Amino acid sequence: MSDTAEKLPKVKIFATGGTIAGASKSNTDNLHYQAGSIGIQGLLDAVPEIHRIAEVSGEQFLNVGSHEIRSQDLLKLSKLIQEQLDEGLAEGIVVTHGTDTLEETAFFLDLTVKTDKPIVIVGAMRPATAISADGPLNLLQATALAANLQARSRGAMVLLNDRIQSAYYTTKTHANALDTFRASEQGSLGFFQNATPHFYYSAANPTGKPQFNCSKISELPIVDVVYSHQDAGADLLQASVDRGAKGVVIAASGNGWASPALELAALKLTKTGFPVVFSTRTGNGFAIKPIEQGIGSGLINAQKARIVLMLALASNYNSEQISQCFNPA
Ligand code: SIN
Repeated sequence: MSDTAEKLPKVKIFATGGTIAGASKSNTDNLHYQAGSIGIQGLLDAVPEIHRIAEVSGEQFLNVGSHEIRSQDLLKLSKLIQEQLDEGLAEGIVVTHGTDTLEETAFFLDLTVKTDKPIVIVGAMRPATAISADGPLNLLQATALAANLQARSRGAMVLLNDRIQSAYYTTKTHANALDTFRASEQGSLGFFQNATPHFYYSAANPTGKPQFNCSKISELPIVDVVYSHQDAGADLLQASVDRGAKGVVIAASGNGWASPALELAALKLTKTGFPVVFSTRTGNGFAIKPIEQGIGSGLINAQKARIVLMLALASNYNSEQISQCFNPA
């Protein structure tokens, strides 16, 4: 490249597997395929145009279905990304990921990587071998987003199906459709036309988003999610405590009500200082709880509340600090 040639921004891509890297025996079979089959080089080779947008480097972090990803992996990934950004090795980060637990990884990175540079988590709903696979365009757009100066200071973002979503709010809403990631109350941050992002609003972060410093965390505690229903007993909550959980999230009904047996067991635990967070299984809205009965998760869904609680416990927060992570003043 000559001195006068325009320098492309550096984007680092961490590949973790998922359907975006999935391969099927038939190009018409989008159901029976192996997630995490194709390596990072194969993903890049499918989108040669990516090299016109950014100076891309790839790293195979994992190659698995996202249901196999563990919290220790998230901790390691967050630290690797922080290192890349702190050392000025990248202007933006892309993480390719299975869509099933994508929102958990995206949320974790949003809460733990301290940066104004874009971190974009991208997946696909159709395997790479499918007719009309969605992965290549999603990857191209994710890279364009990570390289874009206007994408800064917006927190981590999720990119699929032309839509730019806040990692804090978005969730997987459909098991099969391409248009699965949504934040039905908060909406999208923007959208793509070809490889150009358009934002609806200027840069902002979600109100009250807590930030955690992973540099001193070497391990995350066990935090389980217990699903409430009309007949829910206390057994599963007790089983979590017995297996060493340091906190539990209840996916409760309505705005934070669990079955009588679960409520009673949760109350007993709360009185001992064991944190029990009540979220709502409805998918939207604000979960509340009087502080003496537990902690309401506010707008955070159960799988994300689990991440907040793990990080807060690993940071040695007291119960008031934990509560503030969900219900900022
Ligand atoms: C996965 O989450 O690894 C499989 C499903 C997908 O990526 O859509």
